[in-house]
Amino acid sequence: MSILGIDVGGSGIKGAPVDTDSGRLLAERLRIPTPRGGRPADVAEVIARMAEHFDWQGSIGCALPAVVKNSVTLTAANIHDDWIGCDAGALIGRATGCPVSLINDADAAGLAEMRFGAGRDQPGVVIVLTVGTGIGSAVFVDGKLVPNTEFGRLEVRGKEAEARASDRVRKDKDWSWERWAERFGECLGSLESLFWPDLFIVGGGVSKKHDRWGPHLDVRTRVVPAALLNEAGIVGAAMAARR
Ligand code: BGC
Repeated sequence: MSILGIDVGGSGIKGAPVDTDSGRLLAERLRIPTPRGGRPADVAEVIARMAEHFDWQGSIGCALPAVVKNSVTLTAANIHDDWIGCDAGALIGRATGCPVSLINDADAAGLAEMRFGAGRDQPGVVIVLTVGTGIGSAVFVDGKLVPNTEFGRLEVRGKEAEARASDRVRKDKDWSWERWAERFGECLGSLESLFWPDLFIVGGGVSKKHDRWGPHLDVRTRVVPAALLNEAGIVGAAMAARR
């Protein structure tokens, strides 16, 4: 089945038609910068342009950096506060004229990783973390998603995990990979003591550098990098729309 997958981020909005059976993109991915301020109406307009670009009339799956319940966005990270309490599903539906289903961006990336990437056939409790500007999370129990976890908000030594160990923090502080691994490892350690997962999958920009930070982690759980890199959000958004 083909569904238009869209991944809304603080700096860019990416989209492509996805074959949800294979996880493959059916056309080259399009990226349009997020309109300044990231207001709902402006983002919806960009998504409508994207649907037009792909000449799309079918279902759309859209991933957002927000907690999403019943197509309403309940939080907003790196996008405008007007998303809080916004019926984003209805807004994007009106703008595109297509049926739209919404999902948190890390949950979307997690769905794609579990089906087509590093989490394939992984039983038990798997925690997927996406590390970029923020830290997003997705939890799977025997392959089934527990939606809307926000582990980036977990307090670690008096500070949110996201403020302690996101990739933005690493870049801002100009930390070595070893130094970042130490901070990130503390966050994994806290999650470990609460959830005792069987596997951590780490996605986002840092996943490409796993060989630099992986060896410096001091945690008991197996930690593997995500396999799908840039496309996980788009693919997962489309998969969620299919469900
Ligand atoms: C948000 C999450 C989101 C993550 C990754 C966090 O700041 O709270 O909802 O999944 O960033 O974009």
